[in-house]
Amino acid sequence: MVISPELTRFIAGLPKAELHVHHIGAASPRIVAELAARYEGATAVPADPALVEAFYDFRDFAHFLRVYAQVVDLLRTPEDLWTLIHGVGGDLAAQRVRYAELTITPQPHLTRGFAPEEFCEVIEDARRRVEADYGTILRWCFDIPGVPGPPADQTLSIALDQRPDGLVSLGLGGPEAGVSRSHFAPHFAAARAAGLHCVPHSGEVTDAGYVWQAIRDLGAERIGHGIRSVEDPALLEHLAEHRITLEICPTSNVCTRAVPSLAEHPLPALVEAGVPITVNSDDPPMFGTDLNREYAVAAELLSLGEKGVADLARAAVEASFLGAEGKSALLAEIDAYVAQNSSAPPG
Ligand code: ADE
Ligand code: ZN
Repeated sequence: MVISPELTRFIAGLPKAELHVHHIGAASPRIVAELAARYEGATAVPADPALVEAFYDFRDFAHFLRVYAQVVDLLRTPEDLWTLIHGVGGDLAAQRVRYAELTITPQPHLTRGFAPEEFCEVIEDARRRVEADYGTILRWCFDIPGVPGPPADQTLSIALDQRPDGLVSLGLGGPEAGVSRSHFAPHFAAARAAGLHCVPHSGEVTDAGYVWQAIRDLGAERIGHGIRSVEDPALLEHLAEHRITLEICPTSNVCTRAVPSLAEHPLPALVEAGVPITVNSDDPPMFGTDLNREYAVAAELLSLGEKGVADLARAAVEASFLGAEGKSALLAEIDAYVAQNSSAPPG
């Protein structure tokens, strides 16, 4: 990466909103190793942070999902879950993330014995403690793990029956190829009717047709990744016209082999087409990155300076599900930071 040390510092201090990050995928190797040590002998996940990093060398998207499931399996008690979320909150705060919509997939935890009430109590307690300890506001996106039938039904049920205070949206992740987004239309319709926002993954490793499905069948307001939209000019026009934001996670796409290299990432073409985008980290330690690094990658791909990266931060606030007051407060923080830290002469 060739961005200047000044721009790197500017990004590090810039107040930011993170809209696409998964709770399991955001856990630091230190916390994952600590959890693995609790279950040594009963897990293939290494109990040493350096070995955890090596464990995260993905052959392809399917291999990534298999490794991911092994880390999910380390969360067996309320304390495991609380420790992970509180740690993720601290790591986000350390990158000046002031607001994050954390994608959390309840279903595998329910399968491993958490009762829905208990699950929601633990994550809500951790969310409040993160805000009290670090000042970072967390909100939840409850994510269907890409499987129609009971896993999708259970995700919708816990969302609507428990309706924790921090919940703002319903998501859809996991495997995508061959899993039509349309299977999940009734779930998203019910979520919308209950006032939740809709943010499915789509067009990450599949084609633009899946993005159309997410828009038409699920009422997607933002789309996780959506990078394959670049193949369909009519879709690009639709995304631009209807201001449907793509949550772009550049390094993730290289690590899961969704794109061959950063240099070939479609981010510049999407921006060129007028599509609203945000920059996000997805599963940062799993991909050897963090949000600041993703901003640096975007700055390089889009040839941005301080003003450009501040605009990326503003775009994330605008596309977030924060209320109007929260948005104004965070935008004002960004403006104040820019005014105090810009290296460019005023005027
Ligand atoms: N779960 C965690 N990360 C994911 C990704 N990049 N795509 C789909 N599901 C996921
Ligand atoms: Zn994701």
